[in-house]
Amino acid sequence: MTEANNGGEPGNTTTLLGRPAEEYLDDAAGSLEAVKAAILRRLACGPGDRVLDIGCGNGTDVLEIARRVGPGGVAVGVDVQEEAVSGAVRRSRVTGVDALFHVADAYSLPFPDGDFDVVRSERMVQHLDDPAGAVREMLRVVKPGGRVLIADPDHGMWAPDLTDREAARTVLTWWFNNIRNPWIGRRLHGLLGAVGLRDVRVTVMPVVLRTVAEADGLTGLMDALRRAGELGVVPADRARSMREEAALRDTQGGFQMYGAMVLAEGRRTD
Ligand SMILES: C[S@@+](CC[C@H](N)C(=O)[O-])C[C@H]1O[C@@H](n2cnc3c(N)ncnc32)[C@H](O)[C@@H]1O
Repeated sequence: MTEANNGGEPGNTTTLLGRPAEEYLDDAAGSLEAVKAAILRRLACGPGDRVLDIGCGNGTDVLEIARRVGPGGVAVGVDVQEEAVSGAVRRSRVTGVDALFHVADAYSLPFPDGDFDVVRSERMVQHLDDPAGAVREMLRVVKPGGRVLIADPDHGMWAPDLTDREAARTVLTWWFNNIRNPWIGRRLHGLLGAVGLRDVRVTVMPVVLRTVAEADGLTGLMDALRRAGELGVVPADRARSMREEAALRDTQGGFQMYGAMVLAEGRRTD
């Protein structure tokens, strides 16, 4: 999540937090292990299912799904970035897990109506300029009775253990405003309902980060504090104090930061 792609255009996901997307996503998957496992359980896909993952990144979730749907089912991943798709294809070959990957835009999927039992996306809608357009397209390609699951962060919920509450809030708001829809997590319930999904259900999952390295890897916390000081978002001495405090807590084994990932799911009922 949680990828303030600062330094690039909002919505550009070739690099995340200034790192190559593939490397970033692999590290992020470690911090999000519990969340990813929970999403997989809620997908509840089994042998023979046809499942689509939109904005699949490096494809690791698609490969997990492919293992569950087996040879009688189909796991498909699409991503708008060619590099992501070629990386996913490579992983499929290396692991020997069969899955299909295509370069495609979430707004215009190359599949007929009602082609999938389950359609999911994770941490993609936060980057879109038209979330409703993408969810409408998800609804189109899922079969009647099928399910759509969307998981995205709420970047307004990040809570690092820092004493200077005012400055910390200012930095975090500034940092995550670089993402197109930083508060999309709390919008998902309304979004799915407005587009016509029914039986919408929302689950909020904690993301707990227990070291500065983990917080920095997933959210760019230390980089955010450093740059905020340099650019005058908060006074330089307060930015420095927050960095020093985080580092000190880390050394003492007491650093903590948490945030929220929101999973919204609904059903096509027509
Ligand atoms: C933060 S990554 C998440 C990747 C993966 N779902 C995961 O959980 O590891 C967001 C992904 O969405 C993709 N993406 C962004 N806009 C998209 C669009 N319009 N259509 C399809 N994919 C898109 C990006 O290229 C990127 O791979």
